[in-house]
Amino acid sequence: MSSSLKDKIDKRNLPWHIAIIMDGNGRWAEQHGKIRTFGHSQGVEAVRDTAKACAELGIRYLTLYAFSTENWIRPKFEIDALMTLLVDTISAETQTFLNNNIRLLTIGDTLGLPETCRKSLNECMEKTKKLDGMKLVLALNYSSKWELTEAARKIAAQVESGKLKSSDIDEKKVAENLNTAAIPDPELLIRTSGEFRISNFMLWQIAYTELYFTPVLWPDFRRDDVYKAILDFQKRERRFGGIKAIKQHE
Ligand code: FPP
Repeated sequence: MSSSLKDKIDKRNLPWHIAIIMDGNGRWAEQHGKIRTFGHSQGVEAVRDTAKACAELGIRYLTLYAFSTENWIRPKFEIDALMTLLVDTISAETQTFLNNNIRLLTIGDTLGLPETCRKSLNECMEKTKKLDGMKLVLALNYSSKWELTEAARKIAAQVESGKLKSSDIDEKKVAENLNTAAIPDPELLIRTSGEFRISNFMLWQIAYTELYFTPVLWPDFRRDDVYKAILDFQKRERRFGGIKAIKQHE
């Protein structure tokens, strides 16, 4: 099953950047009669399989929405469990990243994360910084409205200091002041768990992104689900407001 789906993928038309809203850990846990945090730990296996499948295929960027600025309203027990899981996973998987030529990056207000998290993220980013394979971007303490507000603040400061004229503010200037300044916009956005929402994720960057929704709950998501999403993407005609199909990265 796995190899046949993978074989159907046109390697010349891969999405450059795949972004994923990982959702459904809590419902998965409930369905299995477990507490919510068990769903999050099971979600790590989905992260591992997805990252490996994307790296093997030659996807250049994989962004995972792991913790939003809104997630702080969850019970402290769940937040603590998520942060511990993050620290443990990053430390345990650094060798996997090195073996698979994966470079770790983050977007979001990481200064707002617990010190232990920042430390393990920084260590892993440092160790993988020279790797030129896939970039795995973790969105942590991230929300698009936060990112856009920060960008507005940074641009305003440049105008205030006389470095920039307001008439010179254009789309390029806004994009340069986002966390994703060095990252191309996603070509494919996947959301799991059957919800049809964007949840404050990369609102600027997904202006022309193809959206793919699957009912699969995140802990059950595996490489075949990645292949299915890519095959669906490859059937779409991308026009970017024009009348002819356009490939963005050729
Ligand atoms: C959404 O499910 C999932 C999250 C908010 C966290 C995702 C985190 C992981 C998969 C674990 C660690 C991640 C990395 C990158 C190592 P939900 O809790 O909103 O589920 P529900 O909608 O069913 O309640």
